[in-house]
Amino acid sequence: MLEAATNLRRLLVVDPCDDCRRLLPGLRAAGWEVDSCELDNVGNRGCDVGLLRLQPRHLERRESVKELISRSGTEWIAVLNLDSLPLNEVGDFVSEWFFDFHTLPFDVARVQVTLGRAFGMARLRGRGSIHSDEHEHEHELLGESRDVRELRKLLAKFAPTESPVLIRGESGTGKELVARTLHRQSRRAIRPFVAINCGAMPEALIQSELFGHEKGAFTGAHQRKIGRFEQANGGTLFLDEVGDLPLELQANLLRVLQEKQIERVGGSQPVTVDVRVLAATHVDLEQAIRAGQFREDLYYRLNVLQVSTAPLRERNGDLALLANHFAHLYSVETGRRPRRFSDDALAAMAEHSWPGNVRELANRVRRGLVLAEGRQIEARDLGLERERGHTAHLPLVTLEAYKLGAERQAMCDALARHGDNLSVAARMLGISRPTFYRLLHKHQLR
Ligand SMILES: Nc1ncnc2c1ncn2[C@@H]1O[C@H](COP(=O)(O)OP(=O)(O)OP(=O)(O)O)[C@@H](O)[C@H]1O
Ligand SMILES: [Mg+2]
Repeated sequence: MLEAATNLRRLLVVDPCDDCRRLLPGLRAAGWEVDSCELDNVGNRGCDVGLLRLQPRHLERRESVKELISRSGTEWIAVLNLDSLPLNEVGDFVSEWFFDFHTLPFDVARVQVTLGRAFGMARLRGRGSIHSDEHEHEHELLGESRDVRELRKLLAKFAPTESPVLIRGESGTGKELVARTLHRQSRRAIRPFVAINCGAMPEALIQSELFGHEKGAFTGAHQRKIGRFEQANGGTLFLDEVGDLPLELQANLLRVLQEKQIERVGGSQPVTVDVRVLAATHVDLEQAIRAGQFREDLYYRLNVLQVSTAPLRERNGDLALLANHFAHLYSVETGRRPRRFSDDALAAMAEHSWPGNVRELANRVRRGLVLAEGRQIEARDLGLERERGHTAHLPLVTLEAYKLGAERQAMCDALARHGDNLSVAARMLGISRPTFYRLLHKHQLR
């Protein structure tokens, strides 16, 4: 059964023309499972190889085409009619995004060969993405800034202990990644890691989500449900946004942590659980305690050990490293060739304040990689152009103001390139380290 599933070769033909349709019976006979549809109706259809009959109207809708092609696990072949769409018009687009192309009329033997090669490549990439190093790095806490290096050291010490850890940090700074790292490095690593976001669920549901319920416990409880605590038995439970937990549930949680037993909703028997609890929050819990919104006793239970994730703007040198990491990761994922960042893009990134931290960086780089038309990812591909355009067009009336602007720009460029090594950054600008530090301070870049 499994064997049959892995040998299945699935072909999707998008916006087929008559020539394409005539091809299909032969392909089916050759063992392809063939499906066809319009570009707008692709939905969740999965396939190993896709054929897109490229037409002039697609050029106006390049974003939709790119989005389709960026999905992982599929190689795409363009089918062109050189009467309506000469290759010199679409050459760059096709060579950038497609595995191969065919011109009409079809040379059936050549089509078969190309499809076979594309299928092989799709499988290779699919397998690669599961086992490759990139995938392992995906869950690694990367960074060479002092903050991240110290965080890694701390996690290595905390992971083997059985203590709860409270993880604090701004949104998108890697709190969940920290929790996963703690789990992975603990003796519980082979057991489950279960996460629950306490803020994302209606109050009435959290209780049964956390502790489960018995059949008939309330209307709609048609069968017994095992809660997250039980699912995590032997492993780690990650309570995300624990500050959002309603007071009543805070009391329940406290009891469970003390007694190491849970009771399913509507149940009469306590169930013993062996779970290590990690909690994260972006709110100020001390403040919440003062405001009567968070129980102090629960706070002390959860906050046995504490780690903080630093905002990206404070992590010297990590920006370029992480940006390159994501560029590489997503190029593997989308099958596009890797791209570097233009100088302009690096400077724009260095100037941006990253309120959404690493998550924002990852999203912008993914977007940049998809939108980039040229050899490099530009600031506008990252959605950072306007911000920069804005500062660049500040009314710099005096020469002094121009000089100041240029000085700041030079510092940002140097940081973007060598933020991990300030001696090198200073040397690049031809100034001493103390002068470099003085300028960092002057422009409030750190
Ligand atoms: N140091 C890092 N190295 C590599 N990837 C990172 C790092 N920090 C964060 N990421 C990635 O950034 C994204 C956001 O991280 P994560 O979800 O852990 O943040 P969070 O603090 O839990 O965010 P939120 O507050 O929004 O829930 C994830 O894709 C994560 O893998
Ligand atoms: Mg999170």
